[in-house]
Amino acid sequence: MSARLTCITAQQTHDAAYLDLLARGAYTGVVPEYEQQWGQIHPGPQTWAWTPTDTIVSFARSKGLTIEGHTLVWGAPDYPDLMPTWITTGTWSRESLLAVLREHISCVVHRYRDDIHTWRVVNEAFDEQGRRRDFVMQRVIGEDWVEHAFRFAHAADPTATLLYNDYGLEWGALHGGNREYDAVLEMVRDFLRRAVPIHGIGLQCHFDLQYSQLPHAADFSALVRSFAELGLRVQATELDVRLDHVAEDRSVNLRRQESVVDLVCDTIDAYRTGSVCVWGLSDGTNWLGAHATAAPYDVSNQPKPMAHRLGRVTRARLPSDRSGRD
Ligand code: XIL
Repeated sequence: MSARLTCITAQQTHDAAYLDLLARGAYTGVVPEYEQQWGQIHPGPQTWAWTPTDTIVSFARSKGLTIEGHTLVWGAPDYPDLMPTWITTGTWSRESLLAVLREHISCVVHRYRDDIHTWRVVNEAFDEQGRRRDFVMQRVIGEDWVEHAFRFAHAADPTATLLYNDYGLEWGALHGGNREYDAVLEMVRDFLRRAVPIHGIGLQCHFDLQYSQLPHAADFSALVRSFAELGLRVQATELDVRLDHVAEDRSVNLRRQESVVDLVCDTIDAYRTGSVCVWGLSDGTNWLGAHATAAPYDVSNQPKPMAHRLGRVTRARLPSDRSGRD
């Protein structure tokens, strides 16, 4: 089984119930849920807020957990908490913005180089049509801002594993039907040809039981294989599966949720290239809200069928299971 991670907040490092779930599932690593987003860690030109990440790092150290960095640059201009207005509304030249990008990435990567060996460097640079998202880095620096982000991260820690992270590659059909996948694959091939330091792909894996977003087994396997064959690590970086948009019986939905998680874990585990990270352990803490019931444990911290495949917990039984499975 590949490594299993979950996101965690600085606050949750003191939350006994969350820590219990982490231990019960024998998770091997954590990812700061939002503390490292640019708007959090570097909210003003001269302002750095290290404490929340430091808290997570020392917690992880004390428990022997690995930590992945999330994320160095996310073009999320509508969320100032994630990408601050001093960046998105500043007046920049290509050179001045590149200098800020370099400084930001260098400082963050360098500070945590002893503890964080994998970074999700750039998050969501492409839209679902495979176009670069409209974002200040794209407008001012141009197409190569992504490549520069990877180069700056590599310069700050030449031993770190650097990932490109996105959410739409794994949604729905693959060949001929997924422009975002086509665009990311093309970018990665180009990076590898030109020795731009990229080492892996993070598939966020935010799924919805609504048919259109569910991966088909053949597509998901082909997706992972296509990057693995290029020598890249492929990770599921933010797995959750929401149930609230379909009207089926709960036990049917929980089984379908489990089968999506099985597919993701089977595929990632088979290629032995990466890890599976769930985006929040329980419905009470998952970013989508409790109604989405997208996490491995419910609001009472009881495991759902999907939980066993993520953490090392005994397969959960549904009330309708008479025979029992193990
Ligand atoms: C979410 C976090 O879970 C929230 O706490 C935060 O307020 C916003 O971001 N894709 C990503 C993650 O890459 O960083 C997002 O996490 C979920 C979507």
